[in-house]
Amino acid sequence: MALNGPALYVGIMSGTSLDGIDTALVELADGQFRLPVRLLATHYQAYAHPLKGALLALHHPTSNELHQAQLISNELAQLYAAATAILLQAAGIDPSQVRAIGCHGQTIRHRPEHGYTLQLGSAALLAELSGITVVSDFRSRDIAAGGQGAPLVPAFHDQALRHPDIHRVIVNIGGISNLTDLPPGRLTTGFDCGPGNLLMDAWIAQHCGEAYDKDGAWAASGQMIPALLQVMLNEPFLHAAPPKSSGRDLFNLAWLNSKLRGDESPADVQATLLALTSHAIADAIRGFCAGAQEVYLCGGGAHNHALVQHLSASLPDCLIQATDTLGMNADWVEAIAFAWLAQQAMHGHCANLPAVTGARHSCILGAIYQA
Ligand SMILES: Nc1ncnc2c1ncn2[C@@H]1O[C@H](COP(=O)(O)OP(=O)(O)O)[C@@H](O)[C@H]1O
Ligand SMILES: [Mg+2]
Repeated sequence: MALNGPALYVGIMSGTSLDGIDTALVELADGQFRLPVRLLATHYQAYAHPLKGALLALHHPTSNELHQAQLISNELAQLYAAATAILLQAAGIDPSQVRAIGCHGQTIRHRPEHGYTLQLGSAALLAELSGITVVSDFRSRDIAAGGQGAPLVPAFHDQALRHPDIHRVIVNIGGISNLTDLPPGRLTTGFDCGPGNLLMDAWIAQHCGEAYDKDGAWAASGQMIPALLQVMLNEPFLHAAPPKSSGRDLFNLAWLNSKLRGDESPADVQATLLALTSHAIADAIRGFCAGAQEVYLCGGGAHNHALVQHLSASLPDCLIQATDTLGMNADWVEAIAFAWLAQQAMHGHCANLPAVTGARHSCILGAIYQA
């Protein structure tokens, strides 16, 4: 397949929310660094309950976890391949027309402080099943170069969403929230802010059996508990200077339980978790993105009306909107970013931003499994 001219890429993202698999088929102007991106098709596949449970279990030491991890890696590859087949079929595209898949994989451990991060999802099996070249394991090289390995999407935001005169901040509210600062004429920076949806998701799952708090309605029915919010905001991660990245390794139910007295009303705890997510983002913007004029939200948390309202009230000087306003659907930004990261790897372009991850140098990210 020719390397020059526009080419089709698939991005597959499965994030810390453990909700499921986002796939996006995009056309990228191949060989160029400046984008146009054309989003041709999307497909979402939710995880079945047992798989989500098995993935959650692998976040912590369990018995026989190497074997379990490999089995789940293969199961994920099957799901990624099935989702890709549906995506391509809907678009009327044959696998041979796709230059590569960028597959993030499912993080089960993120420990840059120990020199590793681990995403499951067998890229070898995905290449075999799909018949398409797969780029995977995007984070390890950045960590090898001394970086956090995350976040990686700021480089894509820089290419796709920067404005020459307006100071924009892009905030992705997934399980964890991360931001990209795009000040005109200055270097792009970014980092993980703290919890996004994952604590709210875990709490409503435990108390109501729901996967998430739709539109933040349950949180809105409760009263934020100031003392609890203060205890949670004391978490050192929230005050650490960037570069920094986080995951379920830190923010999980055990972390939350360690902050509770035990007599709080569950809805009030949910209201407080929503406030925590909002404060973590707003404090990060105030502290590290001085002069920001426009804030664009993406990721599932952009649908949480109560959260968006709280954030808007916390940042009265910023215009807060979804990335849809910029022509990029908030639900697919991350999947599109991984298609772009695959393109960078295929062309041998460096794609990490050392100013974001703290790596000693820029690197070509990802391992390539040829079709
Ligand atoms: N309508 C909604 N109201 C509130 N939260 C939502 C809504 N839609 C999605 N979400 C949240 O978004 C999460 C999924 O976001 P996503 O961007 O896929 O995160 P990740 O990248 O971590 O997988 C869900 O788990 C849920 O918490
Ligand atoms: Mg998701």
